[in-house]
Amino acid sequence: MFGSFEYNPEEHNIVKIDQKAKVERVGLNAEGIAKRTHTCGELRASHVGKAVTLEGWVHRRRDHGGVIFIDLRDRYGLMQVVFRPGGNADLQDRARRLRNEYVISVRGIIRHRPEDMVNPNMVTGEVELEAQQVTLLSESKSPPFLIDEESGALEDLRLKYRYLDLRRPPLQRALQLRHEVYQAIRKYLNEKLFLEIDTPILTKSTPEGARDYLVPSRTYRGKFYALPQSPQIYKQLLMLAGLDRYYQIARCFRDEDPRADRQPEFTQIDIEMSFVDEEDIYNLTEGLFKHVFAEVLDVSLKVPFLRIDYWDALSRYGTDKPDIRFGLELVDLNDVFSESHFQVFSKVLEAGGQIKGINAVGCGSYSRKEMDQLAEIAKSFCAPGLISFKVTAEEAAEGGLQSSVTKFLSPEEKTGLCERMKAQEGDLLLIVAGAQRAVAESLGQLRLEIARRQKLIEPGQFHFCWVYNFPLFSRNPDTGQMESEHHPFTGFREEDIDFFETDPTKIRSRAYDIVLNGVELGSGSIRIYRKDHQKKVFEALGLDQDQIQRRFGFLLEAFDYGAPPHGGIAPGLDRLIMIMSGLGSIRDVIAFPKTTTGASLMSGAPTTVDESQLQDLGIALRPRKRDREVEA
Ligand code: AMO
Repeated sequence: MFGSFEYNPEEHNIVKIDQKAKVERVGLNAEGIAKRTHTCGELRASHVGKAVTLEGWVHRRRDHGGVIFIDLRDRYGLMQVVFRPGGNADLQDRARRLRNEYVISVRGIIRHRPEDMVNPNMVTGEVELEAQQVTLLSESKSPPFLIDEESGALEDLRLKYRYLDLRRPPLQRALQLRHEVYQAIRKYLNEKLFLEIDTPILTKSTPEGARDYLVPSRTYRGKFYALPQSPQIYKQLLMLAGLDRYYQIARCFRDEDPRADRQPEFTQIDIEMSFVDEEDIYNLTEGLFKHVFAEVLDVSLKVPFLRIDYWDALSRYGTDKPDIRFGLELVDLNDVFSESHFQVFSKVLEAGGQIKGINAVGCGSYSRKEMDQLAEIAKSFCAPGLISFKVTAEEAAEGGLQSSVTKFLSPEEKTGLCERMKAQEGDLLLIVAGAQRAVAESLGQLRLEIARRQKLIEPGQFHFCWVYNFPLFSRNPDTGQMESEHHPFTGFREEDIDFFETDPTKIRSRAYDIVLNGVELGSGSIRIYRKDHQKKVFEALGLDQDQIQRRFGFLLEAFDYGAPPHGGIAPGLDRLIMIMSGLGSIRDVIAFPKTTTGASLMSGAPTTVDESQLQDLGIALRPRKRDREVEA
């Protein structure tokens, strides 16, 4: 019983008690319209002969000169409804007036389809509903794009009419999968004694490296809440509070530069545990993903996941989020060219740079145009240039290498290169020489590009790995300031503590990232739980006592009252669903996403607000500098 409502298991519905008699007697809803007895996805040959009522949207209407077919759609599937001429003229006339996206209720008898009309591609394809009654529940304007498996419409139009786009089966499937993932996560973590705890949305700034979204306070004029970039500080405080194991499917908000796999508002599977080390977090997370993939996709993941040292990842894959679904690893060539007279190489080596390459196996037949495209990619990732060698049989005199630079290389260098890169006839060797970062990034991107072009990635594969041993800090090249690689609560290796005095960039953190198919899925760390260590980090970051006190005083004070060792992780849920569903964008797996620049094309948010609202908050808007200059 829910107040004056009651659940009726036969109707699978909640009916008002005072209308119950009516509903039960005539099977009509309060408006006198037949209620559905089945959904559009469930009817099979076993239902033949049954009288049923369906409700849903007109997906397609076909008029075969008298016989009218309607594909009726709801969340559960598609069902063919047929209106045959010869009987009820009024029914036929109503069917003729139906259009795409009209909502109807239709009653009739389930029949076998004639043999030549059975559709093996539809789960309900053996049967059809022979209509006897149809009620129009609501009309629809002609939708701005086709509601179908594929939509050719531009994304902006789809986002503006999101409720129509969400009617498309791939998006419905993604939301269904998302729901199942939520349930699987909860089941697994609940069984492991985790408590699901909400943390505040109106909060104080959390340091995750992005800009905060601010919310002005009316009661405390001139003061602002920040929306959480993550629940980081709160989950640590929950450990200090003795809750031992916490999780939350947490909404996070970050005002950061747009990127394809970022949203200003997104969801994390946020986890924190007490009295743990890295191994405990790895085990728990691997178990979690193993359970979720088995439960939702029936995929059996191999655990433990591969672990890759941060520097090793950079060296072999050119990135700290390696896609390990294929090989094409970066090969170090410094020693092969250490004596080179080829100036491009010798100058780079003198300047302390690197020469590295990848063997694009079997790409020796790439055209001029394809080679130019690869060079463009390398340049866009700051490579000074891309040197390529085609490994041919005909050019045996040249050491089997065809390139505009072979003439500058000695025979030893050419054989050394071929040996090191395990080159075979028909291969393409791509070499970049330059500063370490540019070499890694450009070759890392070329590696992905070659894999795409050569179709080296089999669909439906899920390759996880851990990346660990990140440095605790990096120096901002523009300001020279020390910055946290993760966040300032990240623990560090005790044995590196002396580097705080000498070179903090040498301190290794106790952070780890989990990477899936080359996407950074989540990160976490074993945290600092000693006040003196936390202070050391804040100081290395250049925060003075006043700033430390103002921003993190409440956390440091909590450390005075018995802090347990603790650690955690936060995999991004949207990215996870994007990969599990095989969709190309995180916007496709969020019910109401924003554009990468933070706008909602459907609601128009962000919008201006009334002057009176600003006055309540004590806020006066200033024209932007640019606008002031134009006025002047
Ligand atoms: P981090 O900042 O690395 O760690 O975030 C963890 C994961 O959250 C996802 N993510 C995003 N997804 C979509 N849009 C975004 N704008 C976005 N930003 C991040 C990513 C990322 O790997 N508090 C720490 C975790 C911890 O230490 O426990 C944190 O938030 O998948």
